Amino acid sequence: MTLAAGPHHAPALPYWQQPPPDLTAAIREIKAALRARIEASGRTVEEVFASVEQRIETRIAEIEADRERGEEVWPVLDYDAIAAGTVAMADLDKLKKRGCLVVRGHFPREQALAWDADIVDYVERNRFFETYTGPGDDFFGSVGSRPEIYPVYWSRAQMQARQSERMATVQSFLNSLWKHTSDDGTRWFDPDRDALYPDRIRRRPPGTDSAGLGTHCDSGTLDLWMTREYQQAFRHLFDGTVEQYDPWDAAHRTTGPQYPGSTMCSVFRTFQGWTALSDMDADQGVLHTVPIPEAMAHLLLRPLLPDVPEDSMCGVRTNQVFPVTGRRHAMLYRALTPIPDVRAGDSVWWHCDMVHSVAPVENQRGWGNVMYIPAAPWCPRNEKYAASVREAFLTGSSPADFPEEHYERSWDGRFTVDQLNDIGRRGLGLD
Ligand SMILES: [Fe+2]
Repeated sequence: MTLAAGPHHAPALPYWQQPPPDLTAAIREIKAALRARIEASGRTVEEVFASVEQRIETRIAEIEADRERGEEVWPVLDYDAIAAGTVAMADLDKLKKRGCLVVRGHFPREQALAWDADIVDYVERNRFFETYTGPGDDFFGSVGSRPEIYPVYWSRAQMQARQSERMATVQSFLNSLWKHTSDDGTRWFDPDRDALYPDRIRRRPPGTDSAGLGTHCDSGTLDLWMTREYQQAFRHLFDGTVEQYDPWDAAHRTTGPQYPGSTMCSVFRTFQGWTALSDMDADQGVLHTVPIPEAMAHLLLRPLLPDVPEDSMCGVRTNQVFPVTGRRHAMLYRALTPIPDVRAGDSVWWHCDMVHSVAPVENQRGWGNVMYIPAAPWCPRNEKYAASVREAFLTGSSPADFPEEHYERSWDGRFTVDQLNDIGRRGLGLD
């Protein structure tokens, strides 16, 4: 076991590999322990937090300068440049600074539109709208009687995209932005093999009014402070050496547990992502991010400041998405930026720790259709989850991370095992 770097006299942290039975008591205990560990470095929590704020302030200034010059805040790369390995160094720098990306022409537009039509055919043929009984979770909320988020995982369109060469190319490129091998030789994940993480689709029709989705973070909840592995992953934030914190370091992120929830992500994702199946303009209720990967340092240290009650982690609980509020994280809001206009076949990606939201929209222009497909490289944590994915795939069930709705078990036209290619078999661990 690798020991966390830091002052050798720093007191150890208590940890809980499962949600603590008494959350309030555990929050009080971990906050005191984190403060003591940080202060053992000779610095106060206020000092290290000020350093984090300064680092984020620099990033915000760069974002504001880009806006003033009329430049895209979100990096945009052509698929062809990624596939040919000809992405310019300046573009790579910007991508690492911003932690998010639009891939133009990831798939031909006609391909994306055909996939969208194929999904409609699949759900209509199987009378989905007649049998749909409402959202199986309140994770994304719901508007109107027809679903926006379809709990559909195993359509031909989704599986063809997941196992496509073009998807694998972009996933490898994105995974390689991370430090996946430590200096001691420990390899935390394989950047060139994806663990085919099945997720849902969204189809939002023209004319939709949607309340959107508040600002939040998806990579965990209280486990980010409380499990042994996350404490090691965020070691520099928790031992007073915040300047060494690297949001692209995968060490200790790919082996630990995650606290359960009705909708969660058991796997390690380098990036979350979706592929556009319709054109979407930037003012039509689209995804926004705080395009600063280091913002995680703000989220994890902010609860330790004295204005937050001792039994509070700024509103983070288990089994609920990690909220990011203007009250506690005001500076981050200055950086909140929508994706640029996207066209069917483009894909959109954001670092797994990144703060994001979905803007509200009234009377939406055009469709808003996406397939959620992340980059989830092969690693111990993802290999473990892949066993349940194989089972869900073979039976047409909802994957274990999602509500047990199982609409597709009896559906006609589901993607079958003989339609898997090498990438698909490797992704499911069937090779
Ligand atoms: Fe999210």
